[in-house]
Amino acid sequence: MTDITALKTKYTAQIEGAENLAALDDIRVAALGKKGEVSLQMRTLGKMSPEEKKIMGPALNGLKNELAALVEARKLALEAEALNTALASETLDMSLPVNTATGTLHPVMQVMEEMAVIFADMGFAVAEGPDIEDDFHNFTALNFPVGHPARDMHDTFFLKPSTTKDGEDKSSTENETGEKMVLRTHTSPVQIRTMMSQKPPIRIIVPGRTYRCDSDQTHTPMFHQVEGLVIDKTTNMSHLKGCLTDFISAFFETDVETRFRPHHFPFTEPSAEMDVRYERVGDEIRIGQGDGWMEILGCGMVHPNVLTNCGLDPNEYQGFAFGMGVDRLAMLKYGMPDLRDMFAGDSRWLSHYGFSPLLQANLATGLS
Ligand code: DAH
Repeated sequence: MTDITALKTKYTAQIEGAENLAALDDIRVAALGKKGEVSLQMRTLGKMSPEEKKIMGPALNGLKNELAALVEARKLALEAEALNTALASETLDMSLPVNTATGTLHPVMQVMEEMAVIFADMGFAVAEGPDIEDDFHNFTALNFPVGHPARDMHDTFFLKPSTTKDGEDKSSTENETGEKMVLRTHTSPVQIRTMMSQKPPIRIIVPGRTYRCDSDQTHTPMFHQVEGLVIDKTTNMSHLKGCLTDFISAFFETDVETRFRPHHFPFTEPSAEMDVRYERVGDEIRIGQGDGWMEILGCGMVHPNVLTNCGLDPNEYQGFAFGMGVDRLAMLKYGMPDLRDMFAGDSRWLSHYGFSPLLQANLATGLS
């Protein structure tokens, strides 16, 4: 009996004095664990006389339960204490000034987003392709014959072979079939990739980066285009005109008068350039009405050779394509004077011309 009282006194004091959860668990193991003092005492019951057992059995069981309850109570108390300490030390100072230095969306990203919203309303999906293209997708399949002068007009960046100690390594400049690799000069190769991988009806726009070896006030070596492609069995030139006139009016948020001037592109026949009415008021360019015409984009009916190159029968399928420079459209809509500033990475320019990432493009275009 004295053993039991001694054990109870010892462990009660230890449990109540436990300073943290780890220490409490050590005490629990020492008393109630498999080899704990109380458990070992319980194992001696078998060797006792029936009279002794009658007294010691319930007494030891009672001690075990009592200590277990004490451990549980102390555990809850320690957990509550830990939470209170954390709450007291992890306070939030509501009087601190708000950090207003947030990033902005580049105007080119904003404008591409606006275009995607307008074209999505007309049923266009967004497609993408690689910046590094092969000669076939960038030129040949688009009906630029090998050696054709139109290839030179594109001021193409060809990938240079890297020189290793064993000579030239051409693996990065040619693909598996020996095609020369280029930085795509336009987004038109994605027309080819789309027509070769999915069946008409096709209705896509392709926003993306494009590259040409050219740099002055109105040209940068890297620039952005949005391409468009519609292929089915009935789409004709009047759909092209209606679609692009509606697009440009939605984009500039005003009725814009357009005209389609005959032009030449190898991949469309007939081809046209779309001009918009504009006037200059002081330093400002106003798109929509006025005496001037400004060229905005290239377009046309997809050339039968291009359809054939993609495995489509030109007697069955037809459609239109268009391509436009995003950077210049962004400058015209938001009044930026110099194209080169767009890609200079000056944070003052970005915070002035940039857009809040929280402003949704459909709100910005006025469409719902
Ligand atoms: N790829 C042309 C360029 O970069 C733009 C273009 C013109 C794209 C007419 C088209 C199109 O899809 O039909 O100059």
